[in-house]
Amino acid sequence: MITFHNIQKEFNDGTKAIQDFNLTINEGEMFVLIGPSGCGKTTTLKLLNRLIEPTSGRITIKRKDIQDWDLQKLRWNTGYVLQQIALFPTMTIAENISVVPEMKKWSKRKISSRVDELLHMTGLDPAVYRNRMPAELSGGEQQRVGVIRALAADPDIVLMDEPFSALDPISREQLQKDIHQLQADIKKTIVFVTHDIDEALQLGDRICLMDDGKIIQTGTPHELISRPVNQFVKEFIGNRDNEWNTPVSKIMNRESEYSAHVDNMAQASHKQYTPLYIFGDDREFLGRRQGEEVLSPEVTLHPDTPLDKAVHCFDKTDVEALPVIRDGQIIGVISYKDIVHFLKHAQHHLKETVS
Ligand SMILES: Nc1ncnc2c1ncn2[C@@H]1O[C@H](COP(=O)(O)OP(=O)(O)OP(=O)(O)O)[C@@H](O)[C@H]1O
Ligand SMILES: [Mg+2]
Repeated sequence: MITFHNIQKEFNDGTKAIQDFNLTINEGEMFVLIGPSGCGKTTTLKLLNRLIEPTSGRITIKRKDIQDWDLQKLRWNTGYVLQQIALFPTMTIAENISVVPEMKKWSKRKISSRVDELLHMTGLDPAVYRNRMPAELSGGEQQRVGVIRALAADPDIVLMDEPFSALDPISREQLQKDIHQLQADIKKTIVFVTHDIDEALQLGDRICLMDDGKIIQTGTPHELISRPVNQFVKEFIGNRDNEWNTPVSKIMNRESEYSAHVDNMAQASHKQYTPLYIFGDDREFLGRRQGEEVLSPEVTLHPDTPLDKAVHCFDKTDVEALPVIRDGQIIGVISYKDIVHFLKHAQHHLKETVS
């Protein structure tokens, strides 16, 4: 869908903002750009809608060089949520949202129903907000309008530069959920900038971690967590609240499709799940089924093992799930997916588990 071919951007003062940038963003993907301040995230977005031109290299959208796109068409088809809230101060909310649809010459009626639909979607009652001026909205409300304005004319691509930065944690969480839902519903290609790793892990289909104008690693949240390419990635991902120290016992599943009582051996042999951990009475751990055999697995976890160590254990094996053993009993099973899922929703989970 979007490909950066060897993009370099050097500003006039010699700042090398983007270097050796090669990247493909897939259609319908929620792609997150993340990295420290000044690493080049905003520049990357602006290269995409040609607010900034590269020093060298090429960007293609739908295999067509963006230099060959009609600039107006490119901009209309690329919704942009700026890092700073930038509603037009002298226009009402409805007028703000209508700007691009009007340029695209949509009918009044279509625009009007689109405005209402979008306001609804982000929890702003059209009857209340349509005719207000931006200054009569809170910062968070303005940000929401900024987000829906970018979506108004149904662009194929939406660029969002830290759209939730001015929001309190609760509205932020709400809007993250909205965006997630929106993405699932409308399947836009969204390039989303943040410097918040929790937000990145929660929202991103894939995440691109940048530093100093360069791509350090691109991958799914799972890949970044499990196979960080260097210490920088590790620290960036790990440098969060201490959810990494959460013991596996907090998130393992006591009953799991990856485990079965030995009485069910006959039934178990039909079970498709691999690995399948077998236990006897009193949950005595017997081993891992392999065909007709029961092997003792090379790797097991202790309930107190913290998640970062558990992730390491997964690296040593290629199984999807590991048994959690205490005093010879299997007290649960934890899968790789469980860990990724937990880390993705850690803020939410921590609130529940800490109490
Ligand atoms: N017009 C410009 N002229 C010169 N240097 C610039 C210009 N715009 C940006 N830069 C520099 O390019 C680098 C990347 O800037 P950019 O705005 O892309 O960073 P960012 O990752 O979005 O940072 P932040 O998280 O703070 O928004 C920075 O060093 C910045 O100072
Ligand atoms: Mg920026």
